[in-house]
Amino acid sequence: MKILVIGGGGREHAIAWKLSQDGHQVFGAPGNPGMAQVGQVIAGTDYLKIARDANVELTVVGPEAPLAAGVVDEFHAAGLLIVGANKECAQLEASKIYSKEFMQRVGIPTARFLQTEDEATALKALDEFEFPIVVKADGLAAGKGVIIAQDRAEAEAAVRSLGPRLVIEEFLEGEEVSFIVLSDGKHVVALDASQDHKRVGDGDTGPNTGGMGAYCDGRIFTAEQAQQAMDVVIHPAVAATGFTGFLYAGLMMTAAGPKVLEFNVRLGDPETQPLMHRLQSDWGQVLKAAATPGGLAGVKLEWAKQPSVCVVMAAHGYPATPRTGDVIRGIDAVSGMDGRPVVFQAGTKIGPKGLETAGGRVLGVTAAGPDLKGAIANAYAAVDKISFEGAHWRRDIGAKGLKRW
Ligand code: AMP
Ligand code: GLY
Repeated sequence: MKILVIGGGGREHAIAWKLSQDGHQVFGAPGNPGMAQVGQVIAGTDYLKIARDANVELTVVGPEAPLAAGVVDEFHAAGLLIVGANKECAQLEASKIYSKEFMQRVGIPTARFLQTEDEATALKALDEFEFPIVVKADGLAAGKGVIIAQDRAEAEAAVRSLGPRLVIEEFLEGEEVSFIVLSDGKHVVALDASQDHKRVGDGDTGPNTGGMGAYCDGRIFTAEQAQQAMDVVIHPAVAATGFTGFLYAGLMMTAAGPKVLEFNVRLGDPETQPLMHRLQSDWGQVLKAAATPGGLAGVKLEWAKQPSVCVVMAAHGYPATPRTGDVIRGIDAVSGMDGRPVVFQAGTKIGPKGLETAGGRVLGVTAAGPDLKGAIANAYAAVDKISFEGAHWRRDIGAKGLKRW
C-alpha cells in the first residue's frame, strides 16, 4: 500500500519504519532524514495535495498540530482515507480546560481541578488545594506547560509564567501509564501499555520535557487493568465523541483506580518508538481498518514477547534552549548489534557537515531484549556508539519496570 505519514519527528520515523518493514511504500511530509531512509520525503504542508499527487491509499497523522488545524476533516470532505482525530476531538488535547470539562461531564475519573481565566482568580484558587499543586497552561505546550509546585512561592511563579488561562489541580500519586488506543469511531483496539519518562533527569528530577525515553513491556498492565481502563476511560470517551484515530490516555494508577492526567489525540512520542519496535501485526492493514467506519471490528494486535526500550538522546540545553548544528556520529555503528537496535530520528537535519542536530530531542535509540533488563542493556549499548557535542540522556529508562518486577 502507498501510505503518507504526516509529521517529521521520532514518532513519525517509527511509524514510517514499521510500515516499510511490513512492505508498504511510505511517503513522509514534511518528514525528516530518518524517514527519508525508509520512504520518500516530500517537503511542504499542503497534505491533501501531497496525498493526491503521490496517489496514496491512506494517510496517518502523527502530531497534534495538523489534527487541531482540521486535516482529518479536510481529507474526509475530499473522500480520502485518513487515520486521526477530527478538529473537534482534537480539542481534547489542544485545550486542557475543554478536556477537563469533558471528563467531568462524561464522568471519566480525573484529578479534582479548578479552571481560571485571570491571575487574581488563579492565585485564590491555590488556596483550595494542598501542596504539591499542579498548574497547567490551557493550550498546546509540547509537554512543557505543566508545573508541579511544592510551595506557595513556586505555585505563584507557575501561575505567572503559565497563565492566565489555567487548570489548577490536585496532585495524584501512583504509577503513570501511557494507554493508547486506536478507534474507527466505534470499535476500539488497545495498544500495549507503555511508560514514558517525562522529567529531564534521572530519578524523575528536573523540568518536564516532551519525554526522555519510554519502554513497552507486556507486564505494565494486567489484562484486568487494561479492561478497567477501557471501561472507565476509553469506552465512555469514544461513545461521547465518536472519536477516530489514536486516543492516548495519560493515566495515573492511583489507589482509587486509574485517573486521567491528560488526553492526547495522537500516538505518544517517544512511546511510539518502542511500540512500533515490538508490534508484529501488519501496521498498514491495521491503519487502513481504522480509517474505515466499523473496520476495526475483530482486529487484534500481535506483540512480540520481548520488551523494547527507547532512550532519547537530547541536544545540549534541552528542554530550555536546545542548541542545533552539532554533528551526529555513529548511527550506522548500531546495525547488527543485539536487540535489533533502531535509531529513530527526531530533531535532525542534513547540514554542511552531514547529519546534524536540529531540535531538542534528537534521537530515539530503541532496542529489544530477551527481558526488560536485556532490552535496557541493548538500548544503552547502542547509545554508547552514538555521539554529538552536548548530548545528554537519562540513564534510568525502564528502571521503573525493573523495580516493579
Ligand atoms: P500532562 O501534560 O497533563 O500530562 O502533565 C505532564 C506531566 O506532569 C504528567 O505526565 C505527570 O507526570 C505530571 N502531572 C500532571 N498532572 C498531574 C497530577 N494531577 N498529579 C501528578 N502529576 C501530574
Ligand atoms: N510522551 C508524551 C506525549 O507524547 O505526550
